[in-house]
Amino acid sequence: MKTIAQIREDALNELNAAQDSETIRNLSVRYLGRKGVVTQFLRNISALPPEERPQAGKKANELKIELDQAFEAALKKLEDASAADDRIDVSLPGRPAYCGVLHPLTQITRQICDIFARLGFDIAEGPEVESDYYNFEALNTPKDHPARDMQDTFYVSDNIVLRTQTSSMQIRFMENHTPPVRIIAPGKVYRCDSDITHTPMFHQVEGLLVDENISFGDLKGMLTTFVHQIFDDQTSLRFRPSFFPFTEPSAEVDILCVMCRGKGCRVCKQTGWLEVLGSGMVHPAVFENVRYDTDKYTGFAFGMGVERIAMLKYGIDDIRRFFENDFRFLRQF
Ligand code: PHE
Repeated sequence: MKTIAQIREDALNELNAAQDSETIRNLSVRYLGRKGVVTQFLRNISALPPEERPQAGKKANELKIELDQAFEAALKKLEDASAADDRIDVSLPGRPAYCGVLHPLTQITRQICDIFARLGFDIAEGPEVESDYYNFEALNTPKDHPARDMQDTFYVSDNIVLRTQTSSMQIRFMENHTPPVRIIAPGKVYRCDSDITHTPMFHQVEGLLVDENISFGDLKGMLTTFVHQIFDDQTSLRFRPSFFPFTEPSAEVDILCVMCRGKGCRVCKQTGWLEVLGSGMVHPAVFENVRYDTDKYTGFAFGMGVERIAMLKYGIDDIRRFFENDFRFLRQF
């Protein structure tokens, strides 16, 4: 009798500890199989004293049935649990599918182009690997011109550079078109420079307008309209005298600091103003290079950095964020 009780306890303990159906099936074989513990016990009943045999037989058969049911129940429980795992909980909120977004620089470039498209400008695009002629020479910047020092040029060979400015497109376009000209030229430019506000590759949008009777007043009006649209119409701007070899007179355009509205802060280096673009009236020497009649035509040009505008619009202080391709950053825009 003690042995039956012992077998029962062992079997149930082992079943309790079993974690998977294979272990349970093995247990079933070990206890109830042809050479199983319970089966052996029944077979050896004849070795017991005659008066104990009926009780022992009865108990052993009862145990056989009990264990059989316990194993079956345990197997069924495991099966039900795994079926429940597969079931779909229709009350859970759906998982959103991640959708790509346009890179913030693409978005800003498009916004700039859209604004000028509404003002009647066409888009002109051209090569990033550029000849010295289009990037410098034709823009009134000869080889020994000190203005070349302002731009840390990547030279591919003596006469081929990675363009340092989209101004090269002024020449390329005017060579093939007669006035009136109204174009903007977005694209990549390269300068050997790298810190939290400079990357060796960045983006510019160039603008060029040539026609009869174009004055500096037209330039001011056009850029004022642009600044009011890309930032907001509360953004005041000022034209500060500057120098570019291919414009005369030249002006840099500052906007009232978008962060402090002129009070002075870290972003505007306490000046209250932020430089956003370079501009000026097209230098007659440039017109001569593309055989435009300088008595008949005047025009203005401007160029802006896309990263700079994006950083000011979104309050980003490190330009390198744009190029790390961290989706957590990019997805915000
Ligand atoms: N190309 C100049 C620059 O990269 C900007 C500019 C463009 C200035 C057109 C005047 C006219 O700094």
